[in-house]
Amino acid sequence: MKIVALVGSIRDESYNLALMKTLQKRYREKMEITIANIKELPFYNEDMENNPNEMVQQFKKEIAEADGIIIATPEYNWSIPGVLKNALDWLSRVDKVLQKKPAMIVGVSTGQVGTLRAQLHLRQILASPGLSARVLPPAGNEVLVNHAGAKFENGMLTDESTLSFIDGVIERFITWVNIGKK
Ligand SMILES: Cc1cc2nc3c(=O)[nH]c(=O)nc-3n(C[C@H](O)[C@H](O)[C@H](O)COP(=O)(O)O)c2cc1C
Repeated sequence: MKIVALVGSIRDESYNLALMKTLQKRYREKMEITIANIKELPFYNEDMENNPNEMVQQFKKEIAEADGIIIATPEYNWSIPGVLKNALDWLSRVDKVLQKKPAMIVGVSTGQVGTLRAQLHLRQILASPGLSARVLPPAGNEVLVNHAGAKFENGMLTDESTLSFIDGVIERFITWVNIGKK
């Protein structure tokens, strides 16, 4: 199963990147997760959308060819970071490669609510007509990793109860992706 990951933080020591690297390694027998390079994308510009640069074309192709996507979002000022919104805006236009694409959301914050507000915004964005991703339903599947400082070691998520919860979500996501293939 080919999965493309979007990580909404572009800092080197990002907890969200660390979470995605943890998923990449932990589930490597089940899925191949490739992290898309969204920080090199230009700002979305409608003047360029029919003839975007090579980075945008490559990014859209990667998404089009994936069986599904996983988005790791931090929470910036109660919403998703601009770099992630920019990537989604590119995907929402012209060939609309995210439509019906299975998607799963995870997020890490250093605070109490573990990106809840950002994830609610993200679900709303992904439901918009140009995106229309087939997002794994939230009930029982909300990966809200809070108090990041206590749950990561050496660049990996190590909190056992969080990892075992994510094991279940990943199983349900695999089923969700496969349903769409039938
Ligand atoms: C610009 C900015 C805004 C932030 N806003 C919030 C917020 O609204 N809610 C929250 O829980 N944490 C907020 N934080 C703290 C982030 O949860 C924390 O920096 C987290 O580590 C960012 O994710 P990363 O480690 O993947 O970069 C904010 C951080 C930054 C830099």
